[in-house]
Amino acid sequence: MEKREKLYEGKAKIIYATDEPDKVIAYYKDEATAFNAQKRELYQGKGVLNNKIASLFFELLKKHNIPTHYIKQLSDREMLVYKVEIIPVEVVVRNLATGSIVKRLGIPEKTEFKPPLIEFYLKNDELGDPIICYEHILAMNLAKPEEIETIKKLALKINEILSEFLKEKGILLVDFKLEFGRLPDGTIVLADEISPDTCRFWDLKTGERMDKDRFRLDLGDLTKYYEEVLKRLEGR
Ligand code: TMP
Repeated sequence: MEKREKLYEGKAKIIYATDEPDKVIAYYKDEATAFNAQKRELYQGKGVLNNKIASLFFELLKKHNIPTHYIKQLSDREMLVYKVEIIPVEVVVRNLATGSIVKRLGIPEKTEFKPPLIEFYLKNDELGDPIICYEHILAMNLAKPEEIETIKKLALKINEILSEFLKEKGILLVDFKLEFGRLPDGTIVLADEISPDTCRFWDLKTGERMDKDRFRLDLGDLTKYYEEVLKRLEGR
């Protein structure tokens, strides 16, 4: 496997081509951003932790027959994945109300969503990733009705798998963001990453935040908590 040119650089990862046209390398950076990159900070070692944590989640999902772009972990910061056409819709699953939904709709903090709530956001930094609805996705031709149906089913199944697994590790899965992509044959697969950057993890006992809210809310010790998440996931 040969690493070739940079194809794309996002806020948390860089995507490189390889000598195989259907595979790319995702390189995890140490940079953290929030509020559409208006706030930035470098956390030494964050990329390594997220690569490990995301690999572990992708392997878990594979065991449960969830189709993902993940192939294998290549190094501390690199993951080999299938090249996909990213669907520009961020899919957020919420089990408890916190964050933007509390601010936007005035829903009381920690209100439980049963069934879990699924929301769509347009993946567009210039517009600040605005919330959109099913009809917007169709009107903008971002995905077909069958694809949205598949994405919703996968998102709920992923929520079940991750929630149960994390609960055993003493972590409450409050909410998270997913991105999906299409393989060349049109198959919808989970793409991007699942990590403390893209999820809210609360300690089941203490309620402490073990995710990127440590940075968003200036709570400190971000890498210490990411280490703790990895430690628990690995059963150490
Ligand atoms: P929110 O409450 O700010 O809308 O965030 C919901 C979930 O989505 C939370 O787990 C953090 C995650 N998220 C991202 O991964 N990327 C983003 O750009 C945003 C805004 C949230």
